[in-house]
Amino acid sequence: MSDKKVALVTGGSRGIGRACAIELANAGFDVAINYVGNDEAANSTVEELKSIGSDSVAFKFDVTNEEAVNEGVKQVIEKYGKIDVLVNNAGITRDGLFMRMSSDNWNAVINTNLNSAYYVTQPVIKLMMKQRFGSIVNMSSIVGLYGNAGQANYAAAKAGLIGFTKSLAKELGSRNIRVNAVAPGFIQTDMTKDLKLDGVEEHVPLRRLGLPEDIAKAVKFLAVDATYVTGQVLAVDGGLVV
Ligand code: NAI
Repeated sequence: MSDKKVALVTGGSRGIGRACAIELANAGFDVAINYVGNDEAANSTVEELKSIGSDSVAFKFDVTNEEAVNEGVKQVIEKYGKIDVLVNNAGITRDGLFMRMSSDNWNAVINTNLNSAYYVTQPVIKLMMKQRFGSIVNMSSIVGLYGNAGQANYAAAKAGLIGFTKSLAKELGSRNIRVNAVAPGFIQTDMTKDLKLDGVEEHVPLRRLGLPEDIAKAVKFLAVDATYVTGQVLAVDGGLVV
């Protein structure tokens, strides 16, 4: 078993997940990242994590496939012997007005952004309950708090994650497992690169879009430093929804 603390970050090969993995590695964690498609991005993130001193491995599995998740989490546990921190970060968008939204686009987003948290968290908390220690951070969105035209599927999934976070915090607090969520605003990643965000900065009190690193710092705070915080949703949005 690793002497160091161990974190598992889903969708950790790029964007916000990658920044979270790096932040946790800098905080002394061995970080396992999960990814689904891009081997090159995953390998490059692992190389970066290793250069920080983290014993990192990329585990390729689809978080929407229960069997694949169970096998993937089993492999993480076989490698490290424990999981101290889980970041449920993997997510996608399939935007469009609800009236014309196909059930495929509805289901893809609910499966990837919400059902994945069920699949991944269940085997992980079985281990955390035995450890009597653990911290989970779910990647929600301000859209889950406030809604957004054209994102009914995404808002439903991200709001679902908030209910999930609060309920698990109540179920697992007595086992010394904390469960929190981060609600990012507009963050510059592949997910938002095709959106027309010109002028959005004017509505953000901090007058800029967020960077993956801005989210990673909040995730590390909740995962590691916030030892008496559970069931909370921390908006990290430059003040957008104040
Ligand atoms: P991204 O598109 O750069 O990264 C998404 C990650 O999820 C990728 O690593 C991808 O491989 C992984 N992923 C997607 N489907 C997967 C699957 N089936 N199995 C395993 N991994 C899968 O997006 P970004 O921006 O880094 O998003 C990360 C999280 O932050 C998502 O949950 C997103 O909804 C959330 N978020 C992002 C915001 C933004 O403005 N970029 C705002 C609010 C929330």
